[in-house]
Amino acid sequence: MPSASSLKVLVVGSGGREHVLVKSALASPLVREVIAAPGNGGMEMDCRCAPVSVEDVPGMVALAQKEGVNFVVVGPEVPLSLGLVDALEKVGISAYGPLAAGARLEASKIFTKRLLLKHRIPTALAAEFDQLQPALDYLQTSAMPIVIKADGLAAGKGVVVAMDLAEAEAAVRSMLGEKVFGASGSQVLIEECLMGEETSIHLVVSGRDYVVLPTSQDHKRVGEGDTGPNTGGMGAYSPAELVDDALMARIDREICRPSVDAIAAEGIDFRGTLYIGIMVTRDGPKVLEFNTRFGDPETQVLLPRLETDPVALMHAAATRRLGEIQLKVKPGYATCVVLASRGYPGSYPKGEVVTLPSSYGPEEFLFHAGTKRDEVGRVLTHGGRVFGATALGSTLAEATRRAYAVADRVQFASSYLRRDIGAKQLRRDSAH
Ligand code: AMP
Ligand code: GLY
Repeated sequence: MPSASSLKVLVVGSGGREHVLVKSALASPLVREVIAAPGNGGMEMDCRCAPVSVEDVPGMVALAQKEGVNFVVVGPEVPLSLGLVDALEKVGISAYGPLAAGARLEASKIFTKRLLLKHRIPTALAAEFDQLQPALDYLQTSAMPIVIKADGLAAGKGVVVAMDLAEAEAAVRSMLGEKVFGASGSQVLIEECLMGEETSIHLVVSGRDYVVLPTSQDHKRVGEGDTGPNTGGMGAYSPAELVDDALMARIDREICRPSVDAIAAEGIDFRGTLYIGIMVTRDGPKVLEFNTRFGDPETQVLLPRLETDPVALMHAAATRRLGEIQLKVKPGYATCVVLASRGYPGSYPKGEVVTLPSSYGPEEFLFHAGTKRDEVGRVLTHGGRVFGATALGSTLAEATRRAYAVADRVQFASSYLRRDIGAKQLRRDSAH
C-alpha cells in the first residue's frame, strides 16, 4: 500500500467516467494531488487540466514526467491500444490500464473470439472474413438474424445485428466493400445471434488475481422503452437484480475465472479493468465482448458504491498487489441518468450555456462529460453526452428519484434524457 498522500495522479480522458475517477482520486487518502488531460468543464472545476489529447502518447508521457506524476489512470480504450501504459512503464511511471497487448482484447474482436474459442469459454460461434464475396456467400447459407462485427475499434458503431439477409449484406458491403470503418473493418466476424438478456460484469484484474465489482445495468438505446439507435449509454443503475447470487456464481465459474486464466495463459500481463459483456441465454451465460476499460456510464454508478478506496484498488492492480484488497461495497443502490444534447447519437448543437444546480445533497453527484468552460467560467455544452446525474439511495426507487431530481435541476436548451432509467427493474420489483 502506498503511504498516505504519496500519489500524484494523472487521469487521462474527458468523459463522465474520467470525472468520477478525478473525484475518487481527490477523495483518496493516498493522493496528494490530481491532474487530468485533456479533461472537461467539470474536471477543470476540480483539478488542473492539461490540453493533451488522449491520442498523443509522447505528449501524455511528457506531461506525466514534467508534473512528477507517479500514478496514471487511463479512462478510454484508444490510448490503451496505442500503448500509453507501455510507454509510461518504460519511464518508470505506474499506470492503471492494460498494456497494448491486453488492450487488444477490446481492439480486435477476432483476437478475442479466437482466444474464447481456443479456451472453450462460452461465446457465439463465428466465422472470420477479409474478402467481400466469401462473406456474401456465407450469408446465403446462414440463419437470420445474424451479427456482423468490424474487427477493430469503431467507437461503438462496429456491430450490426441484422434481422434479414438484405440488412446483413448491406453491413458486410459497407465494412468490407466501402470500408466505412477503414482498417478497423477490413476484417469482420459474422456470428450467430444470441437471444436472451444482456448484462455486463466489471473485473479489476492483475495477472491471475481479480476482484469482481458490483453488477450494473446500462441503457444503450437512445429512446425510452429501449428504442432508437445505440448510444454510448443513456443511464445505468447498480446492482442489477437480473444477476442474482446463483447466476453470478455461474458467470464467475464459467466466464470470469476461465477468461482471466486464458488471458494469463496467452502470456498477456493484464492489469486493469476487464469489462465483460454477457448474454444470458437459455443455455447459460455467453461472452459477447471484452472491453479493457471501465464502462461509461457504468463507472458513474460503480465507483460511488465502493466503500474501498478506488485508488487503492487500482494501484494494487497496477503494482501486482491485488491479493491484498478485500473489496467492500456500500449497501443500497445507485442510479445515473445521462443528460444528452438532443440529436445524439447523430448530430447535435454545441456551445449552449448550462445552468447548474446551486447545491447537492450528500449522496448526489453531477458528473460532467461533454462540457467545457468559456473565458468567463460559464459551463457550455460540448458533446453528445453532457452530464451524468447520479445518486445513491437505500432502494433503487430512492436512488432513481434522487438522480432525476439532480438531472431536473440542470438546464440547457437542447437537454434530452430518458425518463425510464431503472424502470424495468422497478417494475420487476413491484411485481414481486
Ligand atoms: P459488442 O460491442 O460486441 O458488445 O456488441 C454491441 C451490442 O451488439 C451488444 O451489446 C449486443 O447488444 C449486440 N450483440 C453483439 N454480439 C451479439 C450476438 N452474438 N448476438 C446478439 N447480439 C449481439
Ligand atoms: N456503456 C458502454 C460502454 O462503456 O462500453
